[in-house]
This record gives sequence, structure tokens and C-alpha cells, in this order.
Amino acid sequence: MATRIKKVLQDKNVATCITVQGWIRTRRDTGSFSFLEVNDGSCLANLQVLAGEKLANYSEEINKLSAGCSVVVTGTLQESPAKGQDVELQADSVQVLGWADPETYPLQKKRHSLEFLRSISHLRPRTNALGAVTRVRSRLSFAVQQFFHTHDFTQIHTPVITTSDCEGAGEMFQVRATGETTDKPFFGLQAGLTVSGQLQAEVYALALGQVYTFGPTFRAENSNTSRHLAEFWMIEPEMAFCDLSCNIEIATDLLKYVLQDVLDNCQEDLKLFDAFIEKGLVEKLKNVVTTDFVHISYTEAVAQLSKVSETFEYAVEWGIDLQSEHERYLTEKLYKCPVIVTDYPSSIKPFYMRVSDDGKTVAAMDILVPGIGEIVGGSQREERLDVLTQRMTDAGIDLKEYDWYLDLRRYGTVPHAGFGLGFERLVQFATGMSNIREVIPFPRTPGSAPC
Ligand code: 4AD
Ligand code: MG
Repeated sequence: MATRIKKVLQDKNVATCITVQGWIRTRRDTGSFSFLEVNDGSCLANLQVLAGEKLANYSEEINKLSAGCSVVVTGTLQESPAKGQDVELQADSVQVLGWADPETYPLQKKRHSLEFLRSISHLRPRTNALGAVTRVRSRLSFAVQQFFHTHDFTQIHTPVITTSDCEGAGEMFQVRATGETTDKPFFGLQAGLTVSGQLQAEVYALALGQVYTFGPTFRAENSNTSRHLAEFWMIEPEMAFCDLSCNIEIATDLLKYVLQDVLDNCQEDLKLFDAFIEKGLVEKLKNVVTTDFVHISYTEAVAQLSKVSETFEYAVEWGIDLQSEHERYLTEKLYKCPVIVTDYPSSIKPFYMRVSDDGKTVAAMDILVPGIGEIVGGSQREERLDVLTQRMTDAGIDLKEYDWYLDLRRYGTVPHAGFGLGFERLVQFATGMSNIREVIPFPRTPGSAPC
């Protein structure tokens, strides 16, 4: 059985015989030895392998190994006399599984730009940076699940294909069966890919109390920015018997929990990001975990932004939707920490948000973080049948199609709330990656869907 390199480097069981398998990162020759740097993706570090000229295939194969070749190495682990690593593997055999022609293999030793790596999304996970992003993403996903399970939430799987446009923003991709005609849609109604699992999560929250869904979400918004994808993953908890402040508390706890988890479990990868991607990243994450988030109302945010209005492309006044530049000013310049903005004007928010007593605002909350802007969007939901019906009618929504949603208010309605955390934006925040295309394996953006 082969041992994963991460375990080899953790345990450092010198004098034991082990087998590892992986890909060559570099080879350098000195005298009668080749030093092979082998990586198997289990961790950032490579294992140094010493392959001597006495090995049977030394001149025919080992001496010709180059970046990208796959190998199986068996040998004895020993203390390394040189700086740079504690242990190294003295090879008894090096079997070559696959060659990688150095003339054509795109990943050579030099540092490649992230833009170039995007053009080879099938090979980029083999680099240090993208391998590290992939491990941190996986750990964050695990930590999210762990948070909800330790807080007594039930996971539900909401549909990818749906006939309801939750956000009402007209950004749905349509779904049609081959040969389907407009008068006879496959699903009876015009269907699309989900923009949010929230409405279905509400159904289950009003039966099981605390639920969450974590799945792919699709938006046909034509915004080619560093924070938008056409396909992204969203974490959406929904809680019965919960108001806006309870919602804020859960969102804050979730963010702190998962970031603490990567601080504890992804130290090697975070160190790489701190050195090469975002200086001060680890300090930033530690601060977010330990300090209180600022909480202001939308009205206060507009007042603060109005004072510096001239620095913005879009003017600020009460009633506008905050643009990314405004959000980033609040979190990066004014408060220099995560900011929770609540109580937005009802006119700029979807129909399901609970109307406040002032009649002008809704019980909405966004969480803004430095470098990203909005990472969480949520609200208390409108639980009063009459108010909800009025809001939907005003929004031009066909009440018949949402009869099931209204039933939730007809039968045993309760105050409830939830939010959506953009998973890629979370991975961006944790890794310091400035472009969202780096934190999802195969980014889908307008004009691009590789692999
Ligand atoms: O604020 P949004 O649109 O909220 C909802 O969809 C609610 N139904 C969620 C809920 O209450 N259950 O989206 C939630 C989060 C945003 O804050 C952002 O982090 C992320 O999803 N997001 C995107 N991430 C990447 N690409 C996009 N195009 C995104 N649109 C939203
Ligand atoms: Mg939002």
C-alpha cells in the first residue's frame, strides 16, 4: 500500500520502508544521484526522493524524468542532511507510470500567472496555488457541514430544476427538453435552473425547524466581475421561530466557525497564500474570528457614504441599491472589519422579505467583508399572509403559481429567517484570491465554460 506524502511528512518514521506515488515537480542531478521532488496532492510540500545511479533504470528512465511525469517510488525514509526538509526517501525502485513531454507540458518550473492557468483548467490543480485552493475549499465545505450538524440543523437537498424564480431578478437559465414546444413544456410550466433554494428550504424549515441546503446555484447575470459566476455554490440555512437578530447571530457564528477551522487545519496552505497571494491573510482571518462585526442600518450606511459621495462612480442616496464600491468602502476603509448592514428599503429587495413597521424597509441583512463586499445576503421572511399577498401582487407575481408558498402562511405560520452564504466568495476570503475564477474548479462565466 502506498502512503500519502502528507502522512509521510507528518509521521517522519525514519528507517521504515514505504511506497509513495505521485508526480514529479522537478529533478536535479548531482554526481551519482538524482533528486526528485515528488508531489501527490495530499499537501503542499513535496517529498524529496534520492535516486542513485545504481538503480537499474537510472540512465534509461530516472535521468530523463521531468515535471509532470507520474511515478511509484519504494524506499527507506531517512533523515535529510540538507536544509529544506527533515526527511527524504532513499529509493530502492522508481517505476515510471506516465511520461510528460517537457517540450509540450505547459507547467514548467517557472511561476505561471493565474490568468494563464485559467486557460488550462484541466492542469492547473497540479500547481501549488490551485492545489492549495482546492484543499482549503474542501475543508471549508466540511466545516460548513460540521457547523450545521453540531448545531442541530437537518440538511435538505433542494432542486436544481425549478419553476419558481426566488429572487425575481429575471436571471434564470431556462431548461427545455429536446423537442419541447412552448405550448407543451416538459414540466408543465416554464422551468429553469435554480437561483436559490430558499423557497424550498422554507417549506422544510416550517416542518423540521432548522434546515440548510448547500448546492449549486445558477444566475444568468451578464456581469463579468471578479466576484460573480454564472454557476456558484450557496449555503442556505432557514430557521423557524427565528427573527433578524437570530439570523445575524447564526450567520456570524457560521463565518467565525469555518474560518477558525481553516486556521486550525490548513496552516501550510494559508502560509502560501499569505506569502504570495495576500500579505497579512492569516492575521486578517484571526481578526475576523476574534472581533465583533460592526452592525449598522442601511440608512446609517447611506448617511456615512453620503459624506464621501464624490469618491464613487455611482451616487449614493436613500433608496438606491448599494454597489460593490459602496460596500467595499464601508468594510475596507470606514470600519476595516466585517460589517452587517440591515433594514434595506423594501423597493430594492425581493417579495419574501418581512416588511418592517415603518412600511418602508424590510428585515434584510447583508454581511460585507474586506476584499469581497457582500458575502452573505439574508432576511427575516414575511410570515403574514395578507402582507405577503400584497407584496407579491405589487411585484406582478402570479399568485396561483406560488399557492404552495402561501400555504406555508395559511397553515401554522411562524416567524422565520434565513440567509445565503456564497461559497466561492467564502473561499476567496479565506485564500485571498482576488478573482472568483480561481476558487472553483471549472468556472462558468459569460462566454466561458471550460471542460
Ligand atoms: O443575496 P443573494 O442573492 O440571496 C439569495 O439568493 C437569498 N435567496 C438567500 C437566502 O436568503 N436563502 O445571494 C446570496 C449570496 C450573496 O451574498 C453572494 O455571496 C452569493 O450568494 N452570490 C454569488 N456568488 C457568486 N456569483 C454570483 N453571481 C452570486 N450571486 C450571489
Ligand atoms: Mg444579495
